[in-house]
Amino acid sequence: MQNVVNTEQEQAWNGDEGAHWARHQERWDAVNEGFDEPLLAAAAILADDTVLDIGCGAGATTRLAARCAPGGRATGLDLSAPMLERARASARAENLGNVDFERGDAQVHPLEGRAFDVAISRFGVMFFADPVAAFANIRAGLRPGGRAAFVVAAAAEDNEWLQALARLRGLLPLGGFGVTGGPGMFSLADPGRVHEVLAGAGFGGVAVERVEADGRWGSDAEDATAFLMGSGPGRHLLAQVDEATGQRARRELVDVLRAYERDGAVRMRSTAWLVTGVHP
Ligand SMILES: C[S@@+](CC[C@H](N)C(=O)[O-])C[C@H]1O[C@@H](n2cnc3c(N)ncnc32)[C@H](O)[C@@H]1O
Repeated sequence: MQNVVNTEQEQAWNGDEGAHWARHQERWDAVNEGFDEPLLAAAAILADDTVLDIGCGAGATTRLAARCAPGGRATGLDLSAPMLERARASARAENLGNVDFERGDAQVHPLEGRAFDVAISRFGVMFFADPVAAFANIRAGLRPGGRAAFVVAAAAEDNEWLQALARLRGLLPLGGFGVTGGPGMFSLADPGRVHEVLAGAGFGGVAVERVEADGRWGSDAEDATAFLMGSGPGRHLLAQVDEATGQRARRELVDVLRAYERDGAVRMRSTAWLVTGVHP
């Protein structure tokens, strides 16, 4: 890989966080796939378009974009080697010839002048130390008139899975949950900040629209608890308490998640901002 400036993110997504996402990719897709339809509708990919998928992870949206552009190409860009390995394997398994993947830091990866028609991202653009520089680099990768469509997480209060975790506040150190600002899940949770960052990066016609989707977190409350507690946020919280408290927190989360069991699954509603813009 060439330059990396987001070194902490690089370590996380090539460490425990990336390993969890790579191992549980089907589950993460089941959690997030409700956002694919609004994302692709906003991206309006044409049959011959070239598409850049930022923070593509295991490549679910890259493969969808490739199917929208049978005469074009979809390129996934991500920091995470284990997730890209899954991405390449899935593209091969689906016999998709018009997909490729690059490993790199979207903030500094050489994108300028590559003239993509469209840039997309499903929750892959919230982790930049310098978001204005990163989005300027992404914009420079588009042709003039090229479009961008990204989904980014809304605040913790608007996401049922985070509210479920927040119910464990008496047991786990949940302070700071939902803080916006630095790189991380909530860095673009404030639409005002999104406008500021994208305008600063040179995008025109920026629009931010609220979108909601139900995610499938597990087959039942026990299964969803095991998944959530094994995820990055879950592990981070458990690492700060003793074993007995951790076990109590798990049991409590099972009780909380019972309320979301419906039709053979735990389904929780997530909220995101659908962000669109144009490279003038
Ligand atoms: C929340 S995951 C989403 C993955 C995928 N888009 C999906 O929906 O399944 C965030 C992704 O962004 C990637 N990422 C974080 N910072 C990045 C950066 N600076 N450059 C490229 N990828 C980055 C991570 O490696 C991870 O794959």
